[in-house]
Amino acid sequence: MNKVFSTFIGLLISTSVLAQSDPNLGIIPVPVSITKSSGSFTLDKTAILVNQSIDGAKSADLLNAFIVSNAGFALREAKVAQPSQKSIVLTSVGADKLSAEGYNIIVTPNQIKLVGKGAGLFYAVQSFMQMMPAKGTAAISIPAVTINDYPRFSYRGTMLDVSRHYFPISFIKKYIDQLAYYKINTFHWHLTDDQGWRLEIKKYPKLTAVASSRNGTIIGHYPGNGNYLTEVKGFYTQDEAKEIVRYASERFITVVPEIELPGHASAAIAAYPELSCFPDRDTFINDKTPWSGSRKGKQVQQTWGVFDDIFVPSENTFTFLNNVLDEVIAIFPSKYIHIGGDEAPKTYWKESPFCQALMKQKGLKDEHELQSYFIQTIEKHVNSKGRSIIGWDEILEGGLAPNATVMSWRGEDGGIAAAQQNHEVIMTPGSMGLYIDHKQSNSPDEPVTIGGYAPYQKIYAYDPIPKVLTAEQRKYIKGVQANMWSEYIKTPEKAENHAFPRLLALSEIAWSPVERKDLKNFTEERLPTHLAQLDKKGWNLWVPTPIGQSEKPLSGGDFTIDLKVPIKGGKIYYSLDESRPSESAFLYTKPISVKVPQGEKRTLKTIVIAPSGKRSVTTETILDNGAPVVKAEAKK
Ligand code: ACM
Repeated sequence: MNKVFSTFIGLLISTSVLAQSDPNLGIIPVPVSITKSSGSFTLDKTAILVNQSIDGAKSADLLNAFIVSNAGFALREAKVAQPSQKSIVLTSVGADKLSAEGYNIIVTPNQIKLVGKGAGLFYAVQSFMQMMPAKGTAAISIPAVTINDYPRFSYRGTMLDVSRHYFPISFIKKYIDQLAYYKINTFHWHLTDDQGWRLEIKKYPKLTAVASSRNGTIIGHYPGNGNYLTEVKGFYTQDEAKEIVRYASERFITVVPEIELPGHASAAIAAYPELSCFPDRDTFINDKTPWSGSRKGKQVQQTWGVFDDIFVPSENTFTFLNNVLDEVIAIFPSKYIHIGGDEAPKTYWKESPFCQALMKQKGLKDEHELQSYFIQTIEKHVNSKGRSIIGWDEILEGGLAPNATVMSWRGEDGGIAAAQQNHEVIMTPGSMGLYIDHKQSNSPDEPVTIGGYAPYQKIYAYDPIPKVLTAEQRKYIKGVQANMWSEYIKTPEKAENHAFPRLLALSEIAWSPVERKDLKNFTEERLPTHLAQLDKKGWNLWVPTPIGQSEKPLSGGDFTIDLKVPIKGGKIYYSLDESRPSESAFLYTKPISVKVPQGEKRTLKTIVIAPSGKRSVTTETILDNGAPVVKAEAKK
């Protein structure tokens, strides 16, 4: 068996999910249609595995390895199955009629047929693994069913910022495995920013020698209440980046690299000050910012935010960026090359005699048009290499480059405007829950985050197609993405906590038809099993708070609080005496009945403990019977 896939399987062991009572068979994202019929297929050693597809050998390996881990036996592989022989058949016959990335699964008592090609067949296997009962079940019985499935969006993405903090290759691979399992097909790799440049560029060695490390990092929110005084560094060699591209492509994931321009350029400028409008000017550092090391000259940033020292639009800068992008394009085969474009203050461009003269010479009426000129110059180069640019929604300002795709992050307006101008769009609005660096609950137990509030339910509720668009304009919405910025995410463990369960909600809004959305089924039937499997595999997931518990106060005198455990095998503990619940508090076994005397309040505090021992944040519900006591006379 292919070694890469055996590793992949190792990570997927025990992720099989089957809730036979669940009409959606435990599959995330929920398939387009599932039609049950009578009977079931019993998987045992007598079944054979037949690969009849053109490109399904790896998918067949993947499935057989999964069966070995899950059932304890391997299926004999054969080229054909006799009609009477119990078989699992991977085939591309009929796949031409399927939508891109689509697949069918047809289970009858004698045969399981997985139909698809390329990504489609791979996704058939992912869904099938999720349908299979978990290890330990006596007979492996798979209900007779026909599944027809294909994605709503062709771009289903997630962004990881590795500039603010560096994440090792091993974590990125593990993360990619999990993305593939949930049919997320784009990994947007945010490789450069003010706080670190993380990709080897052979022509510019100072990008790794200088720009890939900073002397310190602020503690807490801007401007910081201290500095860790520890160097933060790291970069990916081109060979490592190519390895990630290869690894991802085997899982039908495209890696979209991001090279930020013209803003968020402090790290590059620290390495090559001539890329600044003012090469001799010290990097601006707020007096209140606790800093590690010298404050003189050009510095890699140690604090967060938006900085005025952006790339100067000179021929030298364009030569530098074109050379950088040529190396990037040689590593990453993706159609899209992300060029950033966000949060580029125009202060230095306004001050710079060079920029002002350039604007006059080019007939540009303001600095927004200068930004548009900058982006269009880069676009021409990227297009000349057969690729397309994608940028954050600020690239609309001053006029959109002719072939650019817009990533709408400041709400939906940028995406709407771009679609109305017939440009492709990826929706990733922070205000709609797509910023997964935001916190997941209002509990004071939440760790320090950048701010914002984005529980998985908020992502789940989001429809990436804005209602204001016409049917024709809607076609430009190519997909949806969740972003993980890493200012406050220093470790893979914390990244895992931010990613799960939210990426499962993302997967469903990115893949499944809107009419198949069902938050109750997702939360109560499918998510608990998937979370238990992630927990078992050691992912540091965010353990959800009890299903059914209100964060808002409830009023009345007689309360019956009916809760459900959000992770299979987990337990809820609660208190009503203001103490912090733990294993020594009450174990929730049935709805909690509470009587609150008139004029008084109680606080229901809960905690969920996952099978691994991981804890949720504490959730509080105020039970308020604070209505004033109505005197008998007052009633008359
Ligand atoms: C962004 O969040 N600055 C794209």
